[in-house]
Amino acid sequence: AAAPVVAQDLAGLRVVVSAGGTREPIDPVRFIGNLSSGRQGIALACAAQDRGADVTLVGANLTEPLDGVADVVRVGSTAELRESMRLLAPDADVVVMTAAVADFRPARTPASKIKKVPGQGPAPIELVENPDILAELARERLRPGQVVVGFAAETGDDTGDVWHHGRAKARRKGADLLVINPVGHGKGFGTDTNEVLIVDAHGETVAQAQGTKREVADAVWDTVLKASPPISS
Ligand code: CTP
Ligand code: CA
Repeated sequence: AAAPVVAQDLAGLRVVVSAGGTREPIDPVRFIGNLSSGRQGIALACAAQDRGADVTLVGANLTEPLDGVADVVRVGSTAELRESMRLLAPDADVVVMTAAVADFRPARTPASKIKKVPGQGPAPIELVENPDILAELARERLRPGQVVVGFAAETGDDTGDVWHHGRAKARRKGADLLVINPVGHGKGFGTDTNEVLIVDAHGETVAQAQGTKREVADAVWDTVLKASPPISS
């Protein structure tokens, strides 16, 4: 059967999407990582490509199928992800950070493997904070007029629910759009469906979406289209 016709409503748009989870080296053979599959980011890149955008996917340790996304830059650590994003952002009309970025990294990474010392317990690993790539991109706007989009996987806690934390994060980050995704209890990470709220930099709701990661991806692009000036092409 012929492929279904998809409206080319993102034609002329240059987009960069980060996906996956960064790994912070402890020594040459070990790392601190996270469980992000990268599937939501791959779905965003794929949806944009299908809708005619010129897409680069910056993939941090992706093992999931890339679903035909043509242009992929592979990175490992947060430092590498940051470097690639900052290199690509000056040419991008839209940057989307779906990658799960390690908040902290080991302060030192010895050039040789850390050994057990008989009779001694484990040595503590000192951590330092990573730069906030999304907040930097939002603050610096490496291309004028660029739309900057972040993702926030949240659980509620004693101090507030998912939406409270998501709105506060939107105000902190300064991205034009923040996609808030409730996780935990079988939601979000590693699953096939998502339910999200899209808020602006003030934490005000601009859209809601639920469904497969592809459906959520299409809803995000619909929202980006509404938020950005008309595409000149
Ligand atoms: N992000 C980033 N650089 C970091 C941390 C996060 O670019 N060092 C981006 C993520 O890619 C995502 C957004 O910021 O788009 C939100 O990530 P999240 O981990 O939810 O936010 P944090 O500010 O790290 O807050 P938390 O304490 O909840 O982890
Ligand atoms: Ca974090």
